[in-house]
Amino acid sequence: MLLDDTDRVLITKEQLAARVAELGKQISADYAGKTPVLVCTLKGAFTFFADLTRAIDIPVTTDFVAASSYGSGAVSGGSVQLRKDLDNSILGRDVIIVEDIIDTGITLQALADVMQARKPNSLRICCCLDKPSRRRNGLKADYVGFEIPNEFVVGYGLDYNELYRNLDAVYVLKHSIYE
Ligand code: PRP
Repeated sequence: MLLDDTDRVLITKEQLAARVAELGKQISADYAGKTPVLVCTLKGAFTFFADLTRAIDIPVTTDFVAASSYGSGAVSGGSVQLRKDLDNSILGRDVIIVEDIIDTGITLQALADVMQARKPNSLRICCCLDKPSRRRNGLKADYVGFEIPNEFVVGYGLDYNELYRNLDAVYVLKHSIYE
């Protein structure tokens, strides 16, 4: 069974649902009267994105982007390769990048730089999980679901070798699986 590969649950599905509902309310209030575009960063954010969009009760549009993983030589502020770009222009739009996890912050900083260059009206970041202890730059998300310790987490969209994304909560992966 897939769960046998995990040590313990870190964030339960009830905790996720409650926090996502709060984030949805907060975003709905902050963007009242506007129609923001929610940008899902594939693949990891797909589950969080599906829940978050349904917790928002103002009009939104959605778009999807996939950033390539960076190599070990990557530095903060480096460029990012888009494996899948947005379908639509974000010029003048209120953009919210929706991310599953911020670790070093390198991927998201580079992605935010690419988006900012396209001259949106505003740009904010909403992440489900934040590992501030791993940060290698000054990146801060505007909306954070949970701050977590430096554990190898899977589930709720997050993978190890493309597996475990379908677990319905956030689990700590057993050391023996990735060592
Ligand atoms: C993960 C995650 C972030 C990035 C975070 O993506 O979705 O994009 O890593 O790491 P960072 O803060 O150190 O840059 P991953 O490359 O695993 O791709 P995936 O979303 O397709 O699983």
